[in-house]
Amino acid sequence: PSKVTIQTLKKLYKDNVPISVVTAYDYPSAVLAENSGIDVILVGDSLAMVALGYKDTSEITLDEMIHHTKAVSRGAQRPWLVADLPFGCYHASTEQAILSSVKMVKEGRAEAVKIEGGKRMARRIEAIVKDVGIPVVGHIGLTPQTAVSLGGFRVQGRTLNGAKQLVQDALALQEAGCSLIVLEAMPSPVAESITNLLDTPTIGIGAGPYTSGQVLVFSDMLGMFDRFMPKFCKQYVNMGQQIEQALSTFAKEVQDGEFPKLGQHTYNMPPLVEEQWK
Ligand code: KIV
Ligand code: NA
Repeated sequence: PSKVTIQTLKKLYKDNVPISVVTAYDYPSAVLAENSGIDVILVGDSLAMVALGYKDTSEITLDEMIHHTKAVSRGAQRPWLVADLPFGCYHASTEQAILSSVKMVKEGRAEAVKIEGGKRMARRIEAIVKDVGIPVVGHIGLTPQTAVSLGGFRVQGRTLNGAKQLVQDALALQEAGCSLIVLEAMPSPVAESITNLLDTPTIGIGAGPYTSGQVLVFSDMLGMFDRFMPKFCKQYVNMGQQIEQALSTFAKEVQDGEFPKLGQHTYNMPPLVEEQWK
């Protein structure tokens, strides 16, 4: 299978083939995503919580995001590689947004950056896309970096005005030149209307089945995050439980002297040497 580019995504969109997106945070998760045929990898700032144990995503720095994005880029070459710009590194000005995007691409080896926010981010997104030439993925609805001002992690666009605002935000992001737009935690009919109205692919998470693609958080879908699981996530396997079982079996076998087994997990000396050694 060949390298996924913006052109590939446009073709999938044109052919009505839903786009699959998953987050990845390090080399092994990137290899798994690559081998599974996922179209797009997002190094989401969810990594602050699910991989680094921070309380929320606002604590992670651009350099930490770059460190992980580099590792992901070493594990996966085929999927399109998008990385989140974290809280605070694109809010101050268009210039700051450009510098952070360039740094993420040059040092992190990302192919695109993702920025949270609708209309209010449109000007700087346009500058990143059109002045610098770095593709940008938008993100509206529940935007975790500003969850505090949204009144917590809650579904957006449930009032008529709220829904209209989301449509306006989506249009502004399309106008600004976003390659994809993530729609997070909104009623399905709102995501459907936005998707029908735009000619930019939408990627839903908690936004129902009528978007142009879907994204899930690696750790949530694989049962590898201990703190909570959003309603909209589907857990495909409980890896956390399986890993815990394996680790506790290991601990017990060590205590019981059952591991390692002589001959099976050990190196022999050549018989003549062993004789002399003894
Ligand atoms: O950080 C993240 O994982 C994300 C996705 C949920 C879209 O932004
Ligand atoms: Na994110």
